[in-house]
Amino acid sequence: MIGRLNHVAIVVPDLAAASKTYAGTLGARVSAPLDMPAHGVTTVFVELPNTKIELLHPLGANSPIAKFLADHPSGGMHHICYEVDDILAARDRLKAEGARVLGDGTPKIGAHDKPVLFLHPKDFCGTLVELEQA
Ligand code: CO
Repeated sequence: MIGRLNHVAIVVPDLAAASKTYAGTLGARVSAPLDMPAHGVTTVFVELPNTKIELLHPLGANSPIAKFLADHPSGGMHHICYEVDDILAARDRLKAEGARVLGDGTPKIGAHDKPVLFLHPKDFCGTLVELEQA
């Protein structure tokens, strides 16, 4: 059911330092920081030949990743995002399999203007999973 790996998201305490690590040490193509107020994050996109890495930093007082950064002050992997063809069909299948879909199960518009859902980490090997309708 799941398709391509769309991105891996990493929460970082210092976006400039993280950008420098990816652009300099790792030699990757890195975007300028982009504020996404609707999502409570500032994002730097790292473009790899086969996928993306998203470096995330909290934006605003109610950022959904503020607690993660408080718990992981050096930063850490936050979620992985898989593409699906039909997000409602994917949700219904996952619920039928007993997986927990976060929130009320209604897809939200994600950081790429496409419908997304998040799945409970305890059901997926301890990893927060995002599904994005490609
Ligand atoms: Co994501």
